[in-house]
Amino acid sequence: MSILSGKKILVGITAGIAAYKSAHIVRYFIKAGAQVKVVMTPASKDFITPLTLSTLSKNPVASTFYDKEEENELWNNHVELALWADLMIIAPATANTLSKMSNGTCDNLLLATYLSAKCPVYFAPAMDLDMYQHPSTKKSMDALISFGNKMIPATSGELASGLIGKGRMAEPEDIIAFIEKDILSSLPLYGKKVLITAGPTYEAIDPVRFIGNHSSGKMGFELAKQAANLGAEVILITGVSNETVSHALIKRIDVVSAQEMYNAVHLYYKDIAIAILSAAVADYKPKHVAAQKIKKKDATLTIELEKTKDILASLGAQKKHQFLVGFALETNNALENSKGKLKRKNLDLIVLNSLQDKGAGFKTATNKITLIDKLENISEFSLKSKTEVAKDIFNEILKQINA
Ligand code: CTP
Repeated sequence: MSILSGKKILVGITAGIAAYKSAHIVRYFIKAGAQVKVVMTPASKDFITPLTLSTLSKNPVASTFYDKEEENELWNNHVELALWADLMIIAPATANTLSKMSNGTCDNLLLATYLSAKCPVYFAPAMDLDMYQHPSTKKSMDALISFGNKMIPATSGELASGLIGKGRMAEPEDIIAFIEKDILSSLPLYGKKVLITAGPTYEAIDPVRFIGNHSSGKMGFELAKQAANLGAEVILITGVSNETVSHALIKRIDVVSAQEMYNAVHLYYKDIAIAILSAAVADYKPKHVAAQKIKKKDATLTIELEKTKDILASLGAQKKHQFLVGFALETNNALENSKGKLKRKNLDLIVLNSLQDKGAGFKTATNKITLIDKLENISEFSLKSKTEVAKDIFNEILKQINA
């Protein structure tokens, strides 16, 4: 999943030969999971057809204030279009349009929409080299940048005129990459690595049996998604889980046993900024794993268990710059037990789920948590979806790391 997934994107197209590349821009946005609407200047229709763009964007294309061909002359509301968008990109942006944008002229639908836009606006200039170098064009670009618009500079190469120089619109892939990076770099966890453990661990008894638990992994997966949505590079180390995730910023590592989870976690811990251990790790494992399937013989069977390594405690013991978050699942004396865990394992924050709360814990889509920080400040939350719970946990983490 791209950071553009779910975003509402307005693509403005003006009358330059590079308009044919705008079809690719629209296609990339759609592939990234964005919703796209296209606004064209009337003259740009000489370079690319609205039919191509409406087919690719899966939305009607607007180019005039009202549709003359429509029986009731449907009004294209520029304000509505502008307010719909999470971001606007004008590509190609001709010298003429840049000049009008910088002066506040709005003699077509695209310009009126631009002027009404409150979202971030990107523009990708495209023109001949002398036009690109002209002081008036430079003045327009500088003015637009000073208004807070973001320029995706033209590149050098062969131009439609046959001349060689700067003025080619950036390639569609580069325009998308520029916008993705720009959005990412504005996010609070950009450049940070977050490690999350999720799901159960299975401890083998013999080749076909194991000791496990009912953890679904859902909470950990929601935490991973939320961390990625905040711009972090996420390492998600999960026990056996049916949950799925597809996000460019999430690297999923599948493990089975507590020892495998321990090894994987320690491989990454050094460079991690935030570690959240939400996995339901088995506390005990069979001391001896039978090489062959155990046959039923006697009326009873005793399996000797030994402790697994406490992954969270081992991270607490090695903690340097990391912000360390643990989970506690309690049935009684919840607050006292959690505070004890927080101290013993050298945590910065502990997430308490009390099994006494209806809708909290394993396999449910919801959770009810209490957060306790190092200074023993306690925040209680209501029953929420695990997606919302993940947001609450990260809000608290951000508050603490930025304090
Ligand atoms: N944890 C871990 N490694 C283990 C056991 C637990 O990393 N071997 C982590 C869990 O991911 C969770 C926290 O430790 O973040 C839970 O702490 P723990 O003391 O195991 O809680 P309980 O399992 O509830 O333990 P207890 O039986 O002591 O209440």
